[in-house]
Amino acid sequence: MVKQTGYGVAFAGSGSADISTALSNDDLSQIVETSDEWIATRTGIRQRRIAGAADSLATLSAEAARGAIAMANLAPADIDLILLATSTPDDLFGTACQVQAALGAQRAVAFDLTAACSGFVFALITAAQFIRTGAYRNVVVIGADVLSRWVDWQDRTTCVLFGDGAGAVVMQAAETDRLLGFEMGSDGSLNGCLNLNYQSETQPLVGEVQVQTGTFLPITMNGREVYRFAVNRVPEVLEKSLFHAGLDTADIDWLILHQANQRILDAVAKRLKIPSDRVVSNMAKHGNTSAASIPIALDEWVRSGQIQPGDKIATSGFGAGLTWGAAIFEWG
Ligand code: ACO
Repeated sequence: MVKQTGYGVAFAGSGSADISTALSNDDLSQIVETSDEWIATRTGIRQRRIAGAADSLATLSAEAARGAIAMANLAPADIDLILLATSTPDDLFGTACQVQAALGAQRAVAFDLTAACSGFVFALITAAQFIRTGAYRNVVVIGADVLSRWVDWQDRTTCVLFGDGAGAVVMQAAETDRLLGFEMGSDGSLNGCLNLNYQSETQPLVGEVQVQTGTFLPITMNGREVYRFAVNRVPEVLEKSLFHAGLDTADIDWLILHQANQRILDAVAKRLKIPSDRVVSNMAKHGNTSAASIPIALDEWVRSGQIQPGDKIATSGFGAGLTWGAAIFEWG
């Protein structure tokens, strides 16, 4: 664990995009052979939000960021860095710069970070490194995904799981360091468990030269493998992060896991002996929003007054790559 070099990290504000269109389990049962009972029992999901025609990853991200910047009592011009965790950019060259322009955050450098459902936790930890070295003072970290663009709506094994969303936090340089511990991991040997793959065809171009042109295919997933991976890796990475923080699970006020499946949340909480009233869950309303799920849950619990300044939060993201990570931090 790399120790800080002088600057601490504070968590000053949160925000999330409000997507009004809901797609219920009953709606889905009109598209594929499924039922509210099957989906709710196996996943805990009852609805998911679907971005509208006027929404883009950039507009949803900017909406979430505006809420976080306002809560932190900052102006867009104060922001030094915008980190956008996403796997579903509007533009493969990156979407963070569009968010920077939409916010009017002229001074900020902005770039995308891709680590699927671990993206927000990876971005939060990355942002902390820039703050701890003294490079940047005010950072907006956004987790946003529009998975409805990339789901095969005829594949009942995946389309029932995912939804669209965006959430954000503002992290700031401070005297006291409130990022208490973290740990990240990757295992590319399990890459084939969860993919949004590029498929190409060989096109002769000129002479001997050929190019591979094609497009991305919808999400494919080995649900059972991902489930097994999550219930093993997530408790482990949380325990390592708690060790780095010098804390025990009894010290944790809130467990905010990537909102993939209620059964994963229950299994992890049970292994760590964290009571269910300290486990944040909003997947019934949002489904799995990938990189957005943790910051949306955080924002909802902060805005409802359940998470208070000083509360200790254990968070963990996990997903495609495969990747996983955890961070222990104090809100405020
Ligand atoms: N409705 C009705 N039946 C279904 C559906 C559906 N939507 N989907 C699958 N089934 C059927 C299957 O065809 C199968 O039928 P069969 O027994 O006749 O073959 C049966 O239900 C059981 O299927 P399983 O895949 O074994 O179901 P399982 O209990 O494993 O639940 C689930 C599937 C919910 C996907 C589970 O494996 C899971 O949650 N895995 C983790 C996935 C996850 O969290 N992914 C996201 C993490 S990473 C990220 O967020 C990008």
